[in-house]
Amino acid sequence: MKKLSAKVFITRKIPSEAIKLLMDSGLDVSVYKKDSVIPKEILLKNIIQADAVISLLTEKFDKNVIDKMKNCKVIANYAVGYNNIDVEYAKKKKIIVTNTPDVLTDSTADLTMALVLTCARRIIEAEKFLKEGKYMGWKPDLLLGVELKNKTFGILGAGRIGSAAALRAKAFGMKVIYSSKGRNKELEIQTGARKVSTNILLRTSDFLSIHLPLTKETFHFMNKEKLSLLKNTAFLINTSRGEIIDEEGLIKHLQKRKLFCAGLDVFENEPNINPALLKLDNVIILPHIGSATKEARTNMALLAARNVISILSGKGAITPV
Ligand code: DGY
Repeated sequence: MKKLSAKVFITRKIPSEAIKLLMDSGLDVSVYKKDSVIPKEILLKNIIQADAVISLLTEKFDKNVIDKMKNCKVIANYAVGYNNIDVEYAKKKKIIVTNTPDVLTDSTADLTMALVLTCARRIIEAEKFLKEGKYMGWKPDLLLGVELKNKTFGILGAGRIGSAAALRAKAFGMKVIYSSKGRNKELEIQTGARKVSTNILLRTSDFLSIHLPLTKETFHFMNKEKLSLLKNTAFLINTSRGEIIDEEGLIKHLQKRKLFCAGLDVFENEPNINPALLKLDNVIILPHIGSATKEARTNMALLAARNVISILSGKGAITPV
C-alpha cells in the first residue's frame, strides 16, 4: 500500500486500533492527550496545519474555526450526529465532513430499550428502595410498573437507530407506529409498523422514543404544545440530542406529573445539567452513553480513520454527511 504523507489531528484519545491504522498508512498523527474537552485555543493551534481532523461532538466547528483550517481536506466526526459542525460552510471551503453511521446503531438501540425497561419497571427506584433498607418482604403492590406487551411504541424519526429500536420493541410484543418525513417500508415489513401523523404519534404512544437528528428544524421540536399531546401515562425516551426537547417545558410537565417517566440519555447544554432535572423522581438521566460499548466505539474510531485515509488517498469519503 502506498504510504501517505499528511498530518492528522485527533481532538481526544480514541481507540488505539484507529490510531495504529492511521500511522500504518504513513500519516503523521497527533492527539490531544488530556482526558478533557480540548480548549478552543489549543484546538485552533492544532488545526491550522492539519490535513485531516478527527473531531468529537464536544467541539464546535463553526465558520470561525473552519476559517483557521488552512490545509484541511476532511473533518471526520467521531459520531453519527454532526450538529457540532457547520457542514454547509465546510463544503464551501472544500472540506469533506464524514460521520459514523451504522456502527453504533445497535448499541444506541440497546440503550433505548434499557431506558424503556428501566422506566417501565422502576428499576432505579427499586434498587434505591432496597439499598436504603426499606425492603420488608414481598408484597402484592410493591413497586408496580408497566408491562411492555401490547403497548404502543412510537418512534419519532424512523432512521437507522429508530428502526433498530423498533425491532427490539417488536420482540417485546409492542405495537410499533412511527412518524417521519418518508415512508420506511422495510421497517413496516419487519415490525408491522404503521406510519402516522406526528399528532397521532404523540397522542397514542405509550412509549415515545425520539430518534431525530438535531437541525435548525428539529431544535425544540418537542415544544410545550407537543408535550401536552402526550398521554399522562406515557414514557418519553430520548437517545438523540437534548436540544430536540424544550427542556424547561419538559421539566414543568414532569413536575406536574403529566408524564409517567422520562428516560433521557441526552439533555440540553451538556454537560451542564439543569438542577431541576436532578430533583425529579420521574426522570432517569444518563450521561450520553448511547454508543458507549467497546464494539461501537472501536468501530466508530476505525470508520473515522478509514474515512480520513480514503479521502487523503483521493478515493473519496466512505460515509460523507
Ligand atoms: C452520536 O454518534 O451522535 C452519539 O450521540 C454519540 O455516539
